[in-house]
Amino acid sequence: MFTGRIVKMPNSGTACPIIGTGAWAPEDEEERTKRQWLLSALKVGYRHIDTAYSYGTEKAVGEAIIESGIDREDIFVVSKLPPEHHGRVEESIQETLDNLGFKWLDMYLMHWPFAAPYEGEDPDGTPKAAHLPTIKETWEQMEQVLRKSKCEAIGVANFSIKTLEEVMAHSRVIPAMNQVEMHPYLAQNDLLAFCKKHDIAVVAYTPSGTDIVRKDPVIVELAEKYKVTPTQIILAWHLSRNVVVIPKSTNEERQTENFNLPTLEEDDIKKIDGLDRGQRICNPPDENGRVYHMSAEDLGW
Ligand SMILES: NC(=O)c1ccc[n+]([C@@H]2O[C@H](COP(=O)([O-])OP(=O)(O)OC[C@H]3O[C@@H](n4cnc5c(N)ncnc54)[C@H](OP(=O)(O)O)[C@@H]3O)[C@@H](O)[C@H]2O)c1
Repeated sequence: MFTGRIVKMPNSGTACPIIGTGAWAPEDEEERTKRQWLLSALKVGYRHIDTAYSYGTEKAVGEAIIESGIDREDIFVVSKLPPEHHGRVEESIQETLDNLGFKWLDMYLMHWPFAAPYEGEDPDGTPKAAHLPTIKETWEQMEQVLRKSKCEAIGVANFSIKTLEEVMAHSRVIPAMNQVEMHPYLAQNDLLAFCKKHDIAVVAYTPSGTDIVRKDPVIVELAEKYKVTPTQIILAWHLSRNVVVIPKSTNEERQTENFNLPTLEEDDIKKIDGLDRGQRICNPPDENGRVYHMSAEDLGW
């Protein structure tokens, strides 16, 4: 059972703690195997951890959970299918589970709404995938791993209204969650309304908006008013919209800060709403309007 405020996910019949910790780490073997900061997050009270196959931190997350002595059932664990594994979802989730040392995931997300070529070779010598699966084909495989109880819920990340409609047009299971970049400079109000209408829980990544949003004068002024930090104001704004947040800090003091948030007054929420400018900070399209090999238009961004 999860403690603290939770967000219900009607499409899976499950729920998750509204404040989680991100588990991305830089591409560096030493950084990716560190688990002290994950242990301190669990000590602070986080019971929702967001990792991904591509982050290389699944093993550290699993080890930290076991070392913490907290029951596996009491922690909501999310991981993600990388684009290069779209043709082999069952093998990929099994690899993720083996990395974590667990039998099931609480949530398995399709990390991106596109496939990329698989560069590896299966142990049985199966050659590289020649065909890149469509979103529909990958989602069908996601539904299969759900049926096989490898995870309790399936969802997506980086999906827009356009790509959600694409997956929902064919699916038997509606995604339980959509994890997207969201912060006061990228409020994504239309996407949030669409997800609410279809009972899809929204998770904000890069929830703080980094120093770019933290330094906004409106945020700084509100931090002074509530006698908290700018990050706490920003995260509290997400909670006022019932959006799940997964801030990542390796520092125990900041982990504690991000876990203890004020309740904002209606007028102050409106002031923060007014900051929206559609600005992507984490994954902005390049000078050719592309994100990885996809055009922003194809992504529906
Ligand atoms: N689905 C996707 O494609 C996707 C993409 C990006 C991220 N994510 C997920 O979202 C998680 C969070 O995203 P993010 O790391 O981009 O953004 P973030 O959590 O908003 O920002 C992280 C940065 O802010 C600093 N920070 C955290 N709390 C702070 C505080 N209270 N005061 C000052 N600085 C603070 C951290 O440094 P310190 O460690 O030094 O505190 C770190 O540099 C990731 O770990 C990952 O799990 C998912």
